[in-house]
Amino acid sequence: MAQTSSFSLSTPIFYVNDAPHIGHAYTEVAADVLARWHRQAGDETYFLTGTDEHGQKILRTATANGVAPKEWADRLVESAWKPLLDTINISNDDFIRTTDARHEAGVATFLQKLYDDGHVYAGEFEALYCVGCEEFKPKSEIVDGVGAFEGEKVCAIHSKPLELLQEKNYFFKMSAFQDRLLALYEERPDFVQPASARNEVIAFVQQGLEDLSISRTSFDWGIPIPWDSSHVTYVWFDALLNYITARGYGADAENPAAQLQHWPAAQIVGKDILRFHAVIWPAMLMAAGLEVPTTVFAHGWLLVGGEKMSKSKLTGIAPNEITDTFGADAFRYYFMRAVSFGHDGSFSWEDLSARYHAELANGFGNLASRVLAMNAKYFDARVPEAGEETPADAAIRELAASVAARADAKIEAYAIHEAIAAVWELVDALNGYITEQEPWALAKDPAQRERLSTVLYTTSEGLRVLAELLAPVLPEATAKLWSALGAEATLGELSARPIREAGTWGVLPAGAEQHALAVLFPRIESELPTTGGAAQ
Ligand code: MSP
Repeated sequence: MAQTSSFSLSTPIFYVNDAPHIGHAYTEVAADVLARWHRQAGDETYFLTGTDEHGQKILRTATANGVAPKEWADRLVESAWKPLLDTINISNDDFIRTTDARHEAGVATFLQKLYDDGHVYAGEFEALYCVGCEEFKPKSEIVDGVGAFEGEKVCAIHSKPLELLQEKNYFFKMSAFQDRLLALYEERPDFVQPASARNEVIAFVQQGLEDLSISRTSFDWGIPIPWDSSHVTYVWFDALLNYITARGYGADAENPAAQLQHWPAAQIVGKDILRFHAVIWPAMLMAAGLEVPTTVFAHGWLLVGGEKMSKSKLTGIAPNEITDTFGADAFRYYFMRAVSFGHDGSFSWEDLSARYHAELANGFGNLASRVLAMNAKYFDARVPEAGEETPADAAIRELAASVAARADAKIEAYAIHEAIAAVWELVDALNGYITEQEPWALAKDPAQRERLSTVLYTTSEGLRVLAELLAPVLPEATAKLWSALGAEATLGELSARPIREAGTWGVLPAGAEQHALAVLFPRIESELPTTGGAAQ
């Protein structure tokens, strides 16, 4: 019996200044695949996502559009961010907004505790601020502007001018946590992943940590500082706390941690926001006497023309531009398979279309239709019985066990692309097996009836294994396949199948009634936009 455990997971919460693009959807899908995998494994799983709604960036956008910031946030959450979850089939257990009362109360409680415990002091500050990042920029990310911004200092990420801010702020004594943070990275080498991200974080903290400005006075779109309502909470300090306010922190103000559940959690973040999650966030938690996350995994960027895809640089592609043509499953598959998780990858329509047709339509989809069509034709749409096993059949059986075990290990290691690549070995092997065994030729010879039955049992059982292993990535296609295979009626719901046992052979019962399967991944004939480059 495979071991089960618990798995709690968060995505970052998304700024509502604009509608989502495929970079945002990428973070969501990666987290969703991990959550679905663990849920299907029987792990007690909790998956949180949500929206980041305070701060200057949102306030400016709302003002420019002539509406109050809360009204703007409501509009974007309902019209864009929540619908995104349906567009790409996200199975989150909760959705937190930083304007939720539960969050605002939890933030105030947290701040008051840090203040009472001596971790916060008042001071004065002057530094260059990037509204795009919502951050006072460290020297390493301040560069000279070019073109329209010649002569100005700009943000290395947004390429937009920085603003010199001088304010009276409250500060969090983050510098006091430098040694404890370095000890954390040392003692728990998996705390920050992948290794390149860990090295970057260690180097940053070793340079010396400064205290963190955690309040602002020049605008009021934020959570008031509980002991001084002339300040609002710095938007990142507010936003990071969503990970625990959604999980019950502060529900009981007297004993704020009493109702905290599903914590600590793993955190999936883009590499641009690694420092916030691997430095500031654990320091905040240490100050409050709470556990730090189990892991902070930094993924790479989707690039367009070699640069991070972004709406502000007008390179953003809306997720439904892809799903309207290719469907949600193909979106999920493509980004998880084509981009090494933890590295950057360039999106291109050409590469998406090529992989869709080669791997999903011809590779997996065609395999499923051929097997079900042959079972219908030669076995009256019933799962055939397995006879004597030949070395070729045994090779498929052994490969199924091997890919299932390897895929699980890769998911544990956050190597989603490698987990899918492992499963795809079985897709390719089954296609090769059909070509070699030529069931259509066996069908012509009545003396080969038992062999035909064995070959088609092997391929049907292979599809059963594939449906279970690919359900976290391709939830729609595998659900259709599951039912057509006759598995739904005999083995129960696909989502309840223990994924860590998917490689156990001989599960699909002979004789089970099968159903016709509509084409899983139809060929796309319509013209696509063009882009240069290919994902890597
Ligand atoms: N609101 C903050 C996060 C606060 S978490 C306490 C934020 N929001 S964001 O909307 O700008 O980004 C959310 C996530 O989308 C980040 O993980 C970010 O890395 C990811 N992406 C945004 N553009 C991206 C690409 N072009 N490629 C891949 N992911 C990218 O930051």
